[in-house]
Amino acid sequence: STGYQLKMRVWRGDADSGALGDYAVEVSEGEVVLDALHRLQATQAGDLAIRWNCKAGKCGSCSAEINGKPRLLCMTRLSDFDPAETITVTPMRAFPVIRDLVTDVSYNYEKARELPGVELGPRDADGKRRMMQVDVERGQEFRKCIECFLCQDTCHVVRDHDDNKPAFAGPRFFLRYAELDMHPLDIRDRRDTARDAAGIGLCNITKCCTEVCPEGIKITDNAIIPMKERVADRKHDPLVWLGNKIGLR
Ligand code: SF4
Ligand code: F3S
Ligand code: FES
Repeated sequence: STGYQLKMRVWRGDADSGALGDYAVEVSEGEVVLDALHRLQATQAGDLAIRWNCKAGKCGSCSAEINGKPRLLCMTRLSDFDPAETITVTPMRAFPVIRDLVTDVSYNYEKARELPGVELGPRDADGKRRMMQVDVERGQEFRKCIECFLCQDTCHVVRDHDDNKPAFAGPRFFLRYAELDMHPLDIRDRRDTARDAAGIGLCNITKCCTEVCPEGIKITDNAIIPMKERVADRKHDPLVWLGNKIGLR
């Protein structure tokens, strides 16, 4: 048969203390890591805390780390690993643990709240608003984000540096900055906020965020770099500089 005993190490604990627990779980080849954790929960560890909803890679809830790499538990196949290998599952490292594999991701919601929303320009003479399809499509890739926060967990600027969090919105929100900036009817200028409040300058384009994105969004190339260029334009735009100098802006 294709069933086997999977050796798993799973982090168990809470905000105060914890440790890796060793388990052996009956699994089948076609299963994913979340299946194995659910069987562990059903047979040996009834109080194991895991966050999940869709089991289809769409809700963004089951984010954790597998052998130290940020992954969705429901999209990581057991067949990616040698059956003899021990699979280690730990909570996302960049966020405070609540219990077991569940972390407190409220940092991300705080960053979302700080982001200036859409500001619509004036209507056309007939009272309508019009967008060209080609302009609508520009931001389409960014709207695939499932808010799993794996990119946020990966980024070295905050991963082991809680002290950078107040000054850094993170890749998921640079994506949102870029998306709103490309909205065809939006007239708000977000360049100062992206630089000052969101700290886009702290990103040094390591692209680790892009590598872990389960939606395959080109976060760095398509959102962060264009946003960085827009911010730099503002800084070096001679008219803005002159405006600042003579106190008109
Ligand atoms: Fe997850 Fe990708 Fe969205 Fe980041 S950009 S939160 S990795 S889906
Ligand atoms: Fe971090 Fe991505 Fe930039 S991992 S440093 S936000 S390219
Ligand atoms: Fe929804 Fe994994 S359970 S993304």
